[in-house]
Amino acid sequence: MALVPAAGQGVRLAAGMPKAFVPLLGRPLLWHCVRSLQASGCIDVVVVAVGEQHREQARAAVAEAGDQVWIVTGGAHRCDSVRAALLTVPDAEVVLVHDAARCLTPISVIQAVVQAVLAGQRAVVPVLTVVDTIKQVDPDGRVVSTLDRAALRVVQTPQGFAGDLLRQAHQQPSGPVTDDAGLVEALGVPVTTLPGHPDAFKITTPFDLVLAEVLAGARAAGAG
Ligand code: C5P
Repeated sequence: MALVPAAGQGVRLAAGMPKAFVPLLGRPLLWHCVRSLQASGCIDVVVVAVGEQHREQARAAVAEAGDQVWIVTGGAHRCDSVRAALLTVPDAEVVLVHDAARCLTPISVIQAVVQAVLAGQRAVVPVLTVVDTIKQVDPDGRVVSTLDRAALRVVQTPQGFAGDLLRQAHQQPSGPVTDDAGLVEALGVPVTTLPGHPDAFKITTPFDLVLAEVLAGARAAGAG
């Protein structure tokens, strides 16, 4: 079971349409995302959350993926969209949450996350080490401190959860969380990590889209 929050506006991408529908090699990002989830061979149903006015567009984008892709209406924030999707799969034992914007995530990462949850990890996130030096700054941009990058990780999706834990996490009142593992952390439940992949970057800016076109083009050439 995978939930795909895709109801963002894509303001930073400035493509004039919600990010999920921006084309990559002529297909919407959402199409690529759903295809890789299905190609992993370990996801039965994919629930996609989009804005109410984009439900038909989403249905058309994933039409060839078959009837195991469900479209629901998302919410104002990412966690509202995930919650809406989660409500449609009340009995799922393993649930992945995967950003539509990370549509080039390798299948091996999706499989590894599912395997980790099946093996007993109740909350799993793919991560990368941090290559840049990270500084904390005050509202005026003055440096407050330099963080120890050896202890930092960049967090990606899909994030994998035991279904009951994710439902419990989404029932608590939450502030501005940017991922689902954050809600689990707030419950005091351990979240474990496994290796992510550079290709799982979140397409956010026009630069990212250029990068994604190059990457997807290279993959298509390699496959063909
Ligand atoms: O805004 P951000 O880049 O963190 O969004 C991550 C993912 O969450 C994107 O795939 C976006 O479509 C989705 N999202 C959503 N509902 C919102 C806001 C973002 O499904 N209200």
